Amino acid sequence: MKIGVLTSGGDAPGMNAAIRAIVRKALYHDCKVYGIKRGYSGLIKGEIVPMNSRTVGDILQRGGTILKSARCPEFKTEEGRMKAKEQMDKMGLTGLIVLGGDGSFMGAQKLNELGYKTIGIPATIDNDIGCTDYSIGFDTAVNTVLDAVNKIRDTASSHNRVYVIEVMGKNAGFIAVGAALAGGAEAVLVPEIPHNMDDVCKQINKNLKRGKNHSIIIVAEGLMGDPLFNEQCCGFGIAKYIEEKTGADTRVTVLGHIQRGGTPTFFDRKIATLMGAKAVDLILSGQSAKMVGYVDNKIAVYDMEEAIRTKKTISMEELELANIMSNI
Ligand code: ADP
Ligand code: F6P
Repeated sequence: MKIGVLTSGGDAPGMNAAIRAIVRKALYHDCKVYGIKRGYSGLIKGEIVPMNSRTVGDILQRGGTILKSARCPEFKTEEGRMKAKEQMDKMGLTGLIVLGGDGSFMGAQKLNELGYKTIGIPATIDNDIGCTDYSIGFDTAVNTVLDAVNKIRDTASSHNRVYVIEVMGKNAGFIAVGAALAGGAEAVLVPEIPHNMDDVCKQINKNLKRGKNHSIIIVAEGLMGDPLFNEQCCGFGIAKYIEEKTGADTRVTVLGHIQRGGTPTFFDRKIATLMGAKAVDLILSGQSAKMVGYVDNKIAVYDMEEAIRTKKTISMEELELANIMSNI
């Protein structure tokens, strides 16, 4: 059997650990592995290279993906997928392991419909994929945000300021809630929950009266487009509103793509290695259209259809506790 592996959508720290596990587990079973560059774009263009144990040497600790990633609208078209099919057949690939998010899995579904064995591995810092407690990259990203929150809290305290920190999460508040709970933010705003800026301002004023001379407000980028803020980056709109309503000296930090890089944490390396190895076992045993998840501290396998359909929601309990911890 010859299998391919590709990384698709936003890259995530830990993808290289998964690629390493896929290549080495496949070689362990005498199965040839080919790396496809730049996601589905590279598949369509035939950017396909043989992988061996050495090509995945010294990558375990590296963020990003040695296979590069890309978004590829052409693969959403029948014509684009026919080009991909041609390349798969030319290389004699009968299976494909896809690392990415929901969108990438929809692409894998289409390849499954064309007769190829496909297995999905959840890899996105947003952590918004169903049927898994964690996606590869989330733990590293939220730790990157925590490091930034700690540094910003130092200067906020020195200058008695309010800091608005905008974090990633296309339409999901997992990074924001995790960083708020573990970082001690005074407020956290996420796209999933209607927010009341006047309540946030009241809390800031209450904290000031109690002698808490600085506040950290974490906001998920998904709030962009809220008419209240009408800013390119919602963090600036929120900061302006707070400054006008409370008079507090307010600053903004938009963390952006630093959340996508960095050496993967132990946890991301662990789940990436376990997921990569399991994906190889599944595809070599003839399974297809499955996603490898990590649920209740162990590897779990779900139909890809179910993973795509299942909408994962942030924990309201964590959100409420984050607010209690910082405002009592
Ligand atoms: P993610 O995998 O992180 O959700 P995207 O939603 O950007 O990232 O999807 C990544 C790529 O997956 C897209 O650029 C496209 O090539 C492919 N893709 C997404 N949705 C579909 C679909 N419905 N059919 C076929 N391919 C898709
Ligand atoms: O999906 C992961 C993610 O980092 C989102 O959190 C973010 O909104 C998006 O990708 C950014 O996309 P790009 O890398 O194309 O700027």
